[in-house]
Amino acid sequence: MKRLTNALEACSSGELRSLLQAASRAALTAGSIIRELYEKPHTIQMKGEIDLVTEADLASETAIIASLNEDAPDIEVMAEESFTGKLEKAKGAIWVIDPLDGTTNFAHGVPFFAVSIAVLKDGHPLIGVIYCPMQNELFCASSGGGAWMNTRRIHVTETEFPIQALIATGFPYNIHERLDTVIYQVQNVLPKVRDIRRCGAAAVDLAYVSCGRLDGFWEMDLKPWDTAAGWLLVSEAGGKITDFSGRQFSPFKPEIVATNTILHDFLLELM
Ligand code: IPD
Ligand code: CA
Ligand code: CA
Repeated sequence: MKRLTNALEACSSGELRSLLQAASRAALTAGSIIRELYEKPHTIQMKGEIDLVTEADLASETAIIASLNEDAPDIEVMAEESFTGKLEKAKGAIWVIDPLDGTTNFAHGVPFFAVSIAVLKDGHPLIGVIYCPMQNELFCASSGGGAWMNTRRIHVTETEFPIQALIATGFPYNIHERLDTVIYQVQNVLPKVRDIRRCGAAAVDLAYVSCGRLDGFWEMDLKPWDTAAGWLLVSEAGGKITDFSGRQFSPFKPEIVATNTILHDFLLELM
């Protein structure tokens, strides 16, 4: 894993280094499985009215858990497709895994999706890895070790003026219950910025804020596996993350506003 060399060197301890290695190996393995399945017909099951799960979500999750069990067997796992416990902050270390973020894109042949893997310890992020298999971009961060895309150190933008900002959002699966708030927020933000994107994968949105492709992102009703890795990436890249009221973010909270820091108060105002 040559592309990891710089991120590994920047790790502040041997423990973080081996966790980053384990997370990256699992993400790359899962990514190549997803890439192969992308070209083939899909098996789609419904988790809700519009919420899908495909053969790739399940195959990816199985491969990630097998890989992490080999490399770091003592750490508990919270993975989207198999987790049945309570979504609350755990004591000690835990892997938080989205085996395929952007399933709807995957199922429709839109090549914008990712694998997201984080380690949280007592609720704080130690490692975050987001791998976009179709672009072959590996985003990773370790606590105190900066944020990286492949071999390159990445940073959030320095955009100061909202009218120059590209902001992303996402729509929750329970959109029928949340439509008024979603429309209210879009109505507030859209006339004040350069444009809005709804790319369809929250983890990738956060990775893109961390590398400066987006200036900010907001969404409601997210789950820990959508945001845990991206939280660390954005923070290590110099960005800011809070809930809609500006309070400290946690992946166990459903709301997220992530920005280049400079535009944070502007976006919070409009939520
Ligand atoms: C979804 C994606 C989407 C976001 C949804 C998430 P999934 O995750 O991140 O962009 O709007 O809220 O649930 O189901 O594709 O893993
Ligand atoms: Ca997700
Ligand atoms: Ca998923």
